[in-house]
Amino acid sequence: MDKIVINGGNRLKGKVKISGAKNSALPILASTLLAPGVSVIRNVPGLRDVDTMMRILRSLGARISRRHTEIVVDTTDVRSFTAPYELVSTMRASICVLGPLLGRFGKANVSHPGGCVIGPRPIDLHIKGLRKLGAEITIERGYIVARAGELKGSEIFLGGAFGSTVLGTANCMMAASLAKGVTTIENAACEPEIVDLAAFLGKMGARIEGAGTHMVRIEGVNELKGAEHTIIPDRIEAGTYMIAGAITEGDILIEGAIFEHLQAAVDKLEEAGVRILREGNGIKVDVENGLKAIDVTTMPYPGFPTDMQAQILTLMLVTDGISIITERIYPDRFMHVSELLRMGASIIREGSRLVVKGGANLSGAPVMASDLRASASLVLAGLVAEGETEVSRVYHLDRGYERIDEKLRGLGADIKRIKS
Ligand code: EPZ
Repeated sequence: MDKIVINGGNRLKGKVKISGAKNSALPILASTLLAPGVSVIRNVPGLRDVDTMMRILRSLGARISRRHTEIVVDTTDVRSFTAPYELVSTMRASICVLGPLLGRFGKANVSHPGGCVIGPRPIDLHIKGLRKLGAEITIERGYIVARAGELKGSEIFLGGAFGSTVLGTANCMMAASLAKGVTTIENAACEPEIVDLAAFLGKMGARIEGAGTHMVRIEGVNELKGAEHTIIPDRIEAGTYMIAGAITEGDILIEGAIFEHLQAAVDKLEEAGVRILREGNGIKVDVENGLKAIDVTTMPYPGFPTDMQAQILTLMLVTDGISIITERIYPDRFMHVSELLRMGASIIREGSRLVVKGGANLSGAPVMASDLRASASLVLAGLVAEGETEVSRVYHLDRGYERIDEKLRGLGADIKRIKS
């Protein structure tokens, strides 16, 4: 298993180009199942999770070819509606083939995604929404078994204990695109990735209004067709580089990042003393007078993203003062904390809240990645720690960050990947 070795202390400088959004590419690739035909998806990031989605589509009978960031998917010969345990168990996002298979075939057998290191991740809202469209859904031998003679438009409320659900909204939107009549999704997720998915579905011939708001209206059509689409930039990857620039008190330009998608992160980083400017087709980040403590609460979009919680914690460690993090989406999403403590951080956990003491003199250490965003925070900590940090199990990073070591080296970080 590869390792990443970092010698901390360099101030990051220069430009970094943001890749396409993982959390947009996955549901969009899955949605190609809705229509027999050829779709061309561009700006697709080179990630392990995208490879997994391609394997799932191939296992269902799709023909796929890839050239750089362009993927051509031909779903004409898709006959199977079973997404197998071996593949689904490696990536929770595989759940988003459920809606398209049900929409196209009226049948779907999708392995239940099971547990996750970041905490309980039920799919009750997905099932509730699809049942509202008329599907009969049971859990048998570890599989979600969904059947529908004909999907019918309906009123769906997607409100859970932690707000809406992103992939639940995606699944209901995709299935409803081929249902008879009109569906409304109340308390829908508003993430930019949902807007991007709706844009692609629109090109396939779907009739969707209100994507990006809490009320989405879908008028079902009889059939959809293949289409072409370019994926939006990855706002979480961009946010991670913004923090890398800030904690090293560097001066970087993040090319291709969409400022509007990062408002909550920009707001908090400015509060911490980071200067953030729109520049050309990107975002410029630098720090003039050191960093101040801040309090952050994760929320559904447009609130502060839970997928940046671990990274902003690393910034708090190098500010002056006491910061507080409240995790409202995944109350147990703190796998990174114990590894940061090994680097000399001072963090106290109280339930879903962290009290973070700033001014830490982090020292390099061997640390272990546990999940995608936790591993990003360990790399960030390595950039500012004294001496050498060795991050193992970097396959977690490769699930969601394209060539992170190369990109950081391009910004002047002393970082290398040890292949094994
Ligand atoms: C998406 O996951 C993202 N993944 C996650 O990013 C992200 O953390 C999450 O949204 C929240 O922003 C992709 O888009 C592929 P949810 P999703 O359903 O859709 C609860 C990353 O790092 N819930 O919006 O699976 C759930 O437990 C990944 O890139 C229910 O209670 O998340 C959570 O507390 C990690 N019942 C909250 O809602 C349900 O049926 C939000 O989950 C569904 C969810």
